[in-house]
Amino acid sequence: MTSPLSVIILAAGKGTRMQSAKPKVLQTLAGKSLLSHVLDTCHQLTVDETIIVHGFGSEQVQAEITTQYAQSAITWVAQTEQLGTGHAVKVTLSDLPKEGQSLILYGDVPLVSCQTLSALRAANAEGMSMLTLTVDNPFGLGRIKRDEAGNITAIVEQKDASTTEQDIKEINSGIYCVDNALLHKYLPELSNDNAQQEYYLTDIVKMAVADDISIAAIEPEHTFEIEGVNNRQQLASLERTWQGKLVADLQEAGVQFADPTRVDIRGTLTAGQDVFVDVNVVFEGDCTLGNNVYIEAGCVIKNAQIGNACHIKPHCVIDRAEIGAGVDIGPFAHLRPETVLSDNSKIGNFVEIKKSVIGRGSKVNHLSYVGDATVGTDVNVGAGVITCNYDGVNKSQTIIENNAFIGSNASLVAPVTIGDTATVAAGSVVTKDVDAKALAFGRARQIQKDNFQRPTKK
Ligand code: UD1
Ligand code: MG
Repeated sequence: MTSPLSVIILAAGKGTRMQSAKPKVLQTLAGKSLLSHVLDTCHQLTVDETIIVHGFGSEQVQAEITTQYAQSAITWVAQTEQLGTGHAVKVTLSDLPKEGQSLILYGDVPLVSCQTLSALRAANAEGMSMLTLTVDNPFGLGRIKRDEAGNITAIVEQKDASTTEQDIKEINSGIYCVDNALLHKYLPELSNDNAQQEYYLTDIVKMAVADDISIAAIEPEHTFEIEGVNNRQQLASLERTWQGKLVADLQEAGVQFADPTRVDIRGTLTAGQDVFVDVNVVFEGDCTLGNNVYIEAGCVIKNAQIGNACHIKPHCVIDRAEIGAGVDIGPFAHLRPETVLSDNSKIGNFVEIKKSVIGRGSKVNHLSYVGDATVGTDVNVGAGVITCNYDGVNKSQTIIENNAFIGSNASLVAPVTIGDTATVAAGSVVTKDVDAKALAFGRARQIQKDNFQRPTKK
């Protein structure tokens, strides 16, 4: 049986170097706040208690996170003065169980993986394990001191390190798994007698060593897992690193990117084989692409499911749409939430579709607005057709049955039904239902004045 697991996320720092009114942990990477990345990773583990230590911008942080994670129980602990990482964990003690273990994480180190955290926990044999890494440039980070036998003896901070200690290349990530009993024992004993006059969490290492506890260390699979964000440059660089990882995973699954550095995935993208994604495409939320989907440049695709062999031409904006197989879209189409495009339908340029179902093989090819509509199969919606779904107060439905033909520039004033195989003449304003197979005109009859004299200038 595994012991109960708490997660303590330190998120009290201001992040001065971000130069932002927004607390650092709410800055976004891949479309999601830094803190949300950490929380989502924790949710993949079986966590019994999540504690967030908050300080700077508390109200903003709490408001955003409690809205986003309304289902999860989060224990919020305020650290009103930022007196150091040891102090930040110490303020959680009254909320921290005496038994079990804690993972100590940082709200501004967003990309630590669930696998690494599981491995870190598994490595904790005697009460404490930590995530370390050997790097070329350890400047600014805590150094791992080991004895001749290779056992960890202490962590020394950059500002307290002697010149020989500064040569150590193994650094402290700041991420640990510690038995709660040890946190309860050591944290009240911390002192701030050091170069920064801070209560260093890292001092618990030498306290454990003095108690003959052997400290385990493991390395993360990827360096980016332990990288923190302190300024906009680091945020942008971590964003690119993360995008590179997402793209590489998709390439392995058979997706071709015209330029792997010119695509953004802000969420989860699942794709089939032989998918092609041209430059400057942005995916947001949860998107799924079937096999042989071809996406041209400059599209923004959010929470969409796109079936096999769809072709999305340049500059389409797709938001919460469900798209069948063999559908052609764009260029410059706008699919808004609750759009369903059935197999082999076609949506052309400058067409906006909202909350509508377009049936199999139907076409809306040019310059149209279709909202709150149900369109049957093999319907042709001519250029410039508008569903007038809004009277200023209420939204109404338009139904276009199978095989209907709507002439160009018709306005369909909802609620209205166009029957099976009916035809609407071009330029009509249709305010009454049209029967199956009928032809409806809703426009003035054309008149002609012969030998018309144009006005002349007075
Ligand atoms: C800390 C470690 C260092 C390690 C480095 C990794 C200590 C003493 N040092 O350094 O060994 O190499 O992380 O990045 O632990 N925080 C609070 N309250 C505080 C202080 C910090 O919530 O009072 C939070 C910060 O918001 C941040 C995190 O803790 O998310 C780390 O703080 P930071 O000041 O960046 O740690 P360092 O001193 O750089
Ligand atoms: Mg510091």
